[in-house]
Amino acid sequence: MFCSSLLFCVGLGTLAKYAVGSDLWCYNEHCESNPSHWADLAGSFCGGSKQSPINIKTNHAEKDNSLTDFMFVNFSSNQVIQSIQNNGHTVKCNLKKNQVEVSGGGLDGTYYALQFHFHWGKLGDRHSGSEHTLDGERLPMEMHIVTMKKGLDVEEAKKDPQGFAVLAFFINETENGDVSGPWEKLTSNVPNDQVTEEPKLDISINDLIGDVNLSMFYRYMGSFTTPDCNEAVAWTVFREPIKVNKKLIERFPSKAGFNNVFRPVQNLAGRQVFASPATPLPPTGPWCYGDDDDDPHHHQCEYIPPKWYRLYKSYCDGEHQSPINIETKNIVVDEHLDDFTFTKFDDNNAITTITNTGHTVKCSLKEGEVEVSGGGLGHVYSTLQFHFHWGDTSGTPGSEHAVDSKKYPMEMHIVNKRKDLSLANAIKTPNGLAVLGFFIEATTSTKSSSSSSDAETHPSPSSDNGAWEKLTNHLSAIKSIKTVVNVTEGISIDDLLGSVNRRAYYRYNGSLTTPSCNEAVVWTVFKETVKVDKKLMDMFPSQMEYSKVNRPKQDLHGRTVYRTTSASGAPGPVMLFLLPASLAAFLFKCHL
Ligand SMILES: *[C@@H]1O[C@H](CO)[C@@H](O)[C@H](O)[C@H]1NC(C)=O
Ligand SMILES: *[C@@H]1O[C@H](CO)[C@@H](O)[C@H](O)[C@H]1NC(C)=O
Ligand SMILES: *[C@@H]1O[C@H](CO)[C@@H](O)[C@H](O)[C@H]1NC(C)=O
Ligand SMILES: *[C@@H]1O[C@H](CO)[C@@H](O)[C@H](O)[C@H]1NC(C)=O
Ligand SMILES: *[C@@H]1O[C@H](CO)[C@@H](O)[C@H](O)[C@H]1NC(C)=O
Ligand SMILES: [Zn+2]
Ligand SMILES: [Zn+2]
Repeated sequence: MFCSSLLFCVGLGTLAKYAVGSDLWCYNEHCESNPSHWADLAGSFCGGSKQSPINIKTNHAEKDNSLTDFMFVNFSSNQVIQSIQNNGHTVKCNLKKNQVEVSGGGLDGTYYALQFHFHWGKLGDRHSGSEHTLDGERLPMEMHIVTMKKGLDVEEAKKDPQGFAVLAFFINETENGDVSGPWEKLTSNVPNDQVTEEPKLDISINDLIGDVNLSMFYRYMGSFTTPDCNEAVAWTVFREPIKVNKKLIERFPSKAGFNNVFRPVQNLAGRQVFASPATPLPPTGPWCYGDDDDDPHHHQCEYIPPKWYRLYKSYCDGEHQSPINIETKNIVVDEHLDDFTFTKFDDNNAITTITNTGHTVKCSLKEGEVEVSGGGLGHVYSTLQFHFHWGDTSGTPGSEHAVDSKKYPMEMHIVNKRKDLSLANAIKTPNGLAVLGFFIEATTSTKSSSSSSDAETHPSPSSDNGAWEKLTNHLSAIKSIKTVVNVTEGISIDDLLGSVNRRAYYRYNGSLTTPSCNEAVVWTVFKETVKVDKKLMDMFPSQMEYSKVNRPKQDLHGRTVYRTTSASGAPGPVMLFLLPASLAAFLFKCHL
């Protein structure tokens, strides 16, 4: 037995006191150089953008077939542990030099294992000591096997982004697991003081790993989790935890004399986490709206809106989600929200097909023709499709957005993609998509355009119910899910929108309102409503045989909603409504 430093030999027992020793950093929030100050230490990389540990969101991990099985040399040898050391930050088992090897597993060559060590929490406090977290869950402990690329020295390895490979194992506690096996041997040798000991430890690494399935793991590029936090580590985090009896886990804090030795999780900052092929993927669906007993799919569907976040690649638990309730009292006027330019919204042949997706009725547009720009968007967007959200025939409002908690019978979404991006990139870019949302309400006048003289003298519906009739006529042909019909009758988007004021709108940053809920959408919600005959609106729930197709409102999480100078107050009557149709049409064209 020998002492690693004179200071530690006098048996100082608290972390705060260690901080004045040779290592000028600590974990404890009450000491000076705690994790939030590690970035300020001389020569530290702890403030970098590829730091570890991280929270692994299992449903965002990308499957990578190059993550083959590992090959291990001497993992089953019980002769390779040289010494066991308590250094005041961890308990570390040093391995005999150049005897334990790791390769395969998608690593960049062969690596020599140098040591393994542990991170733990507080005595008696479950869920508290692992460094990585799995879908936000912190496990009791984590074991790190630190390896270095063969052929490099430490300084060279620190400069190589994959100079080191750390194999991380979660450790979960059991109430009645083995208390006499390899973990008993290891933990009974945890030194009480800051010392290095060389006990006879005839246990192997495989003895400690036990029956963890080594084919299931996550991989990402990161850093050491202690200063200097060099960004030189290819991390492997095994999915299955090692199970260790609770009594043995408690020996780490109680014998070592310190607790909570883990760094908080760091920002992923755009890094991708990969999963080995054997790692089970999260479910891809089916998803549904669910709170509808008339929905024939309701009973088979587990993934209702509160569970959408669990789906593969879902962002539905993000903080910039849609739809929202727009509170007019908190709206900020933005003078940069100018008029839109709509290109080919008047094209009678732009709609190619109408599809029953099982979640909505979607009208797809000819590629690369219809466009939207202006409106404070800052980019030209290609219009891809529009679709609808509806309630039911008994009057439950079906809009997704609400204004001052008022919902509308229906909502139409015109989905546009930034013209300079592919769709795959657009859904990953904060303003990759622009969706135009229009509330739809029943026509107040029960008169349809029966005679032209009537239309001149009576208030006429704000939109062209002829266009809506043509559209809804198709619904009977797409009653079964996934059916598609070609559209030949001329219907333009302008006809459907009618004379609704397109200069008065609300603007906020949000998401798609269906899985995967990507936070890629600049939302425009128009203040005025499109007016459609109620009979035509009712055809959506009655013909589609599913109703209440709308996501519940999401939290704002501090986002600001903006409006154009003209969109003050709550939605009111359409002013153009009172004008002769020809003048209204003229004014309307001026907005384009
Ligand atoms: C495995 O470990 C044994 C015992 O320490 C050692 O003699 C042997 O050289 C090691 N094997 C390799 C391939 O390093
Ligand atoms: C850890 O063990 C607890 C209790 O046995 C169990 O509920 C939990 O699911 C386990 N966690 C993991 C990630 O295996
Ligand atoms: C590990 O898990 C994979 C996927 O479930 C399975 O195919 C494989 O047989 C398991 N390996 C072991 C050693 O249990
Ligand atoms: C719809 O149009 C496509 C191509 O324009 C054509 O191949 C298809 O046969 C049409 N379907 C029907 C039912 O007319
Ligand atoms: C949306 O987010 C971007 C930055 O990501 C910001 O510049 C813009 O002002 C935001 N727009 C709104 C309407 O909040
Ligand atoms: Zn570690
Ligand atoms: Zn929508």
